[in-house]
Amino acid sequence: MKVVGKAIPHESAREHVTGRALYTDDLLQRYPHLLHAWPVQLPQAHARILELKVSGAYRVPGVVKVLTAADVPGVNDSHTHQDEPLFPSEGMFFGQAVAWVLAESEEAARLGAAQVKVEFEPLPAILTIKEAIAQGSFQGSRLQARRGEVERGLQEAPLRLEGELEIGGQEHFYLETQASLAYLDEAGGVVVHSSTQHPSETQQVVAQVLGLPRNRVVVQCLRMGGGFGGKETQANPYAAVAALGAWLTGRPVRVRLNRSQDITLSGKRHPFYARWKVGFTPEGQLLALKMELYADGGWSLDLSEAVLARAVCHSDNAYFIPHMEVIGRVCKTHKTSQTAFRGFGGPQGMVFIEEVLDRVARTLGLPPEVVRERNFYGATETKLDPETLTTHYGQFVKDWERMHQIWHELKLSSDFAQRRAEIAAFNATHPHLKRGLAITPVKFGISFNLTAFNQAGALVLIYQDGSVQVNHGGTEMGQGLHTKMLQIAAQTLGVPLERVRLMPTRTDKIPNTSATAASSGADLNGGAVLEACQKLKARLAGIAAQEFGVNPADIVFEGGQVWSIWNPTQAVPYTQIVQKAYAQRVQLFADGFYRTPGLHWDKSRMWGKPFHYFAFGAAVAEVEVEDFTGAYRVRRVDLLHDVGDSLSPLVDLGQVEGGFIQGMGWLTLEELRWDAQGQVATRSASTYKLPSFSELPEVFKVRLLPKATEPGVVYGSKAVGEPPLMLALSVREALREAVGAFGEGGVVELASPATPEAVFWAIERVREKMLISGD
Ligand code: MTE
Ligand code: MOS
Repeated sequence: MKVVGKAIPHESAREHVTGRALYTDDLLQRYPHLLHAWPVQLPQAHARILELKVSGAYRVPGVVKVLTAADVPGVNDSHTHQDEPLFPSEGMFFGQAVAWVLAESEEAARLGAAQVKVEFEPLPAILTIKEAIAQGSFQGSRLQARRGEVERGLQEAPLRLEGELEIGGQEHFYLETQASLAYLDEAGGVVVHSSTQHPSETQQVVAQVLGLPRNRVVVQCLRMGGGFGGKETQANPYAAVAALGAWLTGRPVRVRLNRSQDITLSGKRHPFYARWKVGFTPEGQLLALKMELYADGGWSLDLSEAVLARAVCHSDNAYFIPHMEVIGRVCKTHKTSQTAFRGFGGPQGMVFIEEVLDRVARTLGLPPEVVRERNFYGATETKLDPETLTTHYGQFVKDWERMHQIWHELKLSSDFAQRRAEIAAFNATHPHLKRGLAITPVKFGISFNLTAFNQAGALVLIYQDGSVQVNHGGTEMGQGLHTKMLQIAAQTLGVPLERVRLMPTRTDKIPNTSATAASSGADLNGGAVLEACQKLKARLAGIAAQEFGVNPADIVFEGGQVWSIWNPTQAVPYTQIVQKAYAQRVQLFADGFYRTPGLHWDKSRMWGKPFHYFAFGAAVAEVEVEDFTGAYRVRRVDLLHDVGDSLSPLVDLGQVEGGFIQGMGWLTLEELRWDAQGQVATRSASTYKLPSFSELPEVFKVRLLPKATEPGVVYGSKAVGEPPLMLALSVREALREAVGAFGEGGVVELASPATPEAVFWAIERVREKMLISGD
């Protein structure tokens, strides 16, 4: 009768695979009088806009309206920071939308947009992190986390290294591009269907642009065809355009970006640049690390400061470094405004510390995995001092032993030691092919860094026939949140899954919700759904207790039946109890609320307990690299990941696999290119290489850590959405190991993404070094 923890398919799996699942833009067929929107995009990275000549557009048959700044009744800004003009007077990145054309057909809107003449004066543009640093072009505050005395630590360390690395960003490439559809309701309000991870903020922005109180705006999200962080804030401008269009014309308006519009308009994962100094012992123990992180934030701040904060908080990954200081800055460049992307800065912070550890290992000629495990929290051979189990931002790593457990179990189950020997033998006999094997850990903090976001609400309704509706504030983007919420409601109420229906996320059901992000959708909304269902169950137990003449605590609800523990054979249908409750005027709907306990965070000092707990995992990857082209294959991957007691094992397996592959794409294949004018050159699937079936690991063994109950989280579970992405670091390190095998030891420099081209050049460098040292 167990529902939570049962391996069931995603609630929409059938619809997904048959194409019947509806997405925002599918609703367009329901509105025959709908208008279509098309952006007028600026062909310049930075420019003062002198004049918009719109009259040409109105000569195109079917064009109804050209939206410009003059049309905005409220605030001409599509961000809650109010630093992103919806209709700008200064163009800040190549392709920025400066006006939108509404027309009877998409084609007419497109032709109309082509007739809008934009007169502008080009201004100098900053296009790289290095240019931004040189010109002092930063935004947001300077972040700093520190523990110990880093300068002294570096000075006293017997060995020191310095280094730098620049890493690429990532396009979300959600299958469903940004989409919104808005109409006026029959009571003076605006309804917006939006593919958004954050309906409450979309509501806030629409209200801001229209100059309306928020109670006049309802935002609904049925489901997204992927978000990956890209719809946490960046759905809002398109919702605002659709709502503004509907407000002005009185007709439904649809905005849906095509792929190249989406890539040129919306933000991506932040590219980063880091430089560091590290002090260490001859055994590879890190003593001091000083690191500077620079994120390319693009033209506006968006979530960059929070992303950078997470990068700063994850630049320890799983390692204790006694003296540590991390400084972070967000660069302001004339590019798309970079935003949340699965891992939210965590992956970038972790690339750098893994890079540092690898360089330390290769400098010392030690196996990288030995150096890694020597630096784990709790790895010190001496007695465990709580200080050595505390991060550089003050949080105690209470589950450090779990990291060790996962690491050692995975090394055994993947035959790590034996395969290392086999690979050495293979490499010795293959001059043009080399294999590499690597193991890397993941420790990822769960909770929003900003404490206030860690709250959620739910509203659960039971009808007289016993059927149940569940509303909660989270959004579904394929990650299986709704499936988990259904399981929690069914389990808690003791009814079969089929009796429970999950409703589309709407701001008029649950107000003031947080983004479904930071992997905490199930923790937060699950806590709220659980509370609402517990309230209802307690009320129904009171009714059943009267019926059986026992104490309410002795009532059991399971599988749609209700009985007393004193007489389990005398069960009555749960619906009968519901009907009795109604007759006795017992309230059959309840709200639930959850706030994560125990969090505190001093943003200015970057110190406190920002995370409820850590999610852990480890990955072993084996690759084979060929030297003529730098082409490689991923021969085998073993993952062991900790999701606590899984709420929904099939869903969680999918998250671990999908997250890993997405991370692998970022680190090895996906290369965003901007041309000299600042235009995104990789704006379609033909130029932006995504992982597909041919890049999957040839052997892919994924396991969830068994018996991993997390106390204080709904049904003992742990968040799963983002942490597995960082397991892909193992592929980067395995590639480096293989590249190194073409040389004779020492540091191996490898660009990120490690595309075949980058791997080719890395091999060349390794060989060059060999020639020089051979002379
Ligand atoms: N999985 C799918 N299929 N599609 C997505 O868009 N987004 C990821 C992750 N897994 C995503 C996904 C991101 S960035 C986050 S933060 C979490 O899901 C959000 O959902 P959760 O909090 O319910 O895990
Ligand atoms: Mo996920 S990047 O927190 O939406």
